[in-house]
Amino acid sequence: MKCVLLSGGFDLRKYLASEIKRLEGRISFVDHLDGSDPAEIRMAVGWHPPADAFDHYPNLEVACSIGAGADNILNCPSLREDIRVVRIVEPAQAQMMAGFVIFHAIWHQRHFATYFANQRERVWKRIGQRTMQEVPVGILGYGAIGARVAADLAMLGFPVNVWSRSAKPTPAGITGFHGADGLDAMLAGTEILVNLLPLTAETKGILNGVLFGKLRRGGYLIQVGRGPHLVEQDLLEALDSGQLAGAALDVFHVEPLPPEHPFWVHPKIVLTPHDASDVSLVATGQTILATAEALRAGLPPKDAVDRSRGY
Ligand code: GLV
Repeated sequence: MKCVLLSGGFDLRKYLASEIKRLEGRISFVDHLDGSDPAEIRMAVGWHPPADAFDHYPNLEVACSIGAGADNILNCPSLREDIRVVRIVEPAQAQMMAGFVIFHAIWHQRHFATYFANQRERVWKRIGQRTMQEVPVGILGYGAIGARVAADLAMLGFPVNVWSRSAKPTPAGITGFHGADGLDAMLAGTEILVNLLPLTAETKGILNGVLFGKLRRGGYLIQVGRGPHLVEQDLLEALDSGQLAGAALDVFHVEPLPPEHPFWVHPKIVLTPHDASDVSLVATGQTILATAEALRAGLPPKDAVDRSRGY
């Protein structure tokens, strides 16, 4: 089975080197436009493929993302309707994400930003404590990662509300909301908002001034979805007005974040370079192999995105 590596501005062959070696003899990885016969290629692995990438492969049937999100492939203009798109689903990634979100939730709840600044000024000042139970968390997106994040936050004692597009069952201790009305109700009872939504036409720009205005005053944003979910100017205004006390940002419209961007030096923003939680290379290799085997057997690949929903 031949599989083409499709990526714009990112060395996918280098990134996947260990898995390309492990899969030797079972999958032969070719580079985009390297002279291989494009008609023989039925499978691709990609990350932000060039706009016309899929036009070159008339018999391509499936494209695998190298992350939990597949928007990087789904947004490629040349992706045909009949190409299946697969993403990586890995429990360990959900656990890593839960740790990341918990860190930032406690950062806010325990006033660490202020203590960090006070230390620099040699200021000894106790702020006073709030219990976890006093700081409700709302999670946008209740897939495999959202469910793990919600469960771990609830275990620590945070009241947890989750929101998804359609109704989903939730375990005891986690309150589920869905649909447009559900979103408003969820936001009204939320101080810390965690964004774990997939990026679709419907969710683009969802983190905006109107939404921030519906949270508890002095709220906190943990943005670990995709950059285009956030209206950046609205975030700056919400931070300036005090509607939001702070924000943890891991994803951005433009990555790497340009050096002149105001987020870098904003005193109420903690930022990380899209590093909240990666899928492992081993899980990526396993998904690529399982997808190739499904293709050989004429079966639908596991973990394929529902193209009509966009995730
Ligand atoms: C990371 O952003 C991923 O999609 O796994």
